[in-house]
Amino acid sequence: KKPIIVAIDGPAASGKSTTAKILAGRLGYTYIDTGAMYRSVTLKVIREGLLDEIRKDETRIAELLRTITIGFQGERVLLDGEDVSEAIRENRVSREVSFISSLKPVRDKLRELQQEMGRKRGIVMDGRDIGTVIFPDAELKIFLIADPAERAKRRHAELLLKAGGAAVPSVDELEEEIKQRDRDDEQRTHAPLKRHPDAVLLDTSNMTIDEQVNVVYDLVNKIV
Ligand code: C5P
Repeated sequence: KKPIIVAIDGPAASGKSTTAKILAGRLGYTYIDTGAMYRSVTLKVIREGLLDEIRKDETRIAELLRTITIGFQGERVLLDGEDVSEAIRENRVSREVSFISSLKPVRDKLRELQQEMGRKRGIVMDGRDIGTVIFPDAELKIFLIADPAERAKRRHAELLLKAGGAAVPSVDELEEEIKQRDRDDEQRTHAPLKRHPDAVLLDTSNMTIDEQVNVVYDLVNKIV
């Protein structure tokens, strides 16, 4: 069987990464979470205290992009060699990631890295512009959507599970945040979130994770 590229796009918390991860496991493919890459750039900007400067002058991000390294080791995300898998999920990162992702130098840099990662095929890549910009020739393109209230509930459950007793934002707060991030991602100039005309639209509002994975898995098997 010839390995293919599966591109999964969709709004925040629509179940992309969960689906993509399990699917990749079943296919023996590599899973690439491009959101984690944008989050890593954002984390680095925050840590270096460059957020305000970059807000005033976008070109100030160029220097940071020249030396940054982002990679994956299994499910772990490495930023300049450090495991940042947890740090990139922090709220301060979620709040700023859409701004950092809207900058052209950031997109140019990550596009290059992502296209290189997919050169050997046999990958499941999820994000916002995988089917439209990164791999428009991907053999299978999926656009996952779900009702915002449902997405907020899922994200809340996920955060509670990880929080170990610590406070987490309310479902309502999360829904607002998710909607805002969707608006920002849809309205930006460079590589906005949108469905490629060939992408299969999948509404997961009333689906279990198993069902989502099975639908996509069956679609892959129709192709390969
Ligand atoms: O997938 P996740 O929700 O972790 O992505 C975080 C943010 O990264 C998105 O809201 C979006 O602003 C940005 N992103 C992007 N392009 C991608 C993946 C993520 O702009 N391919």
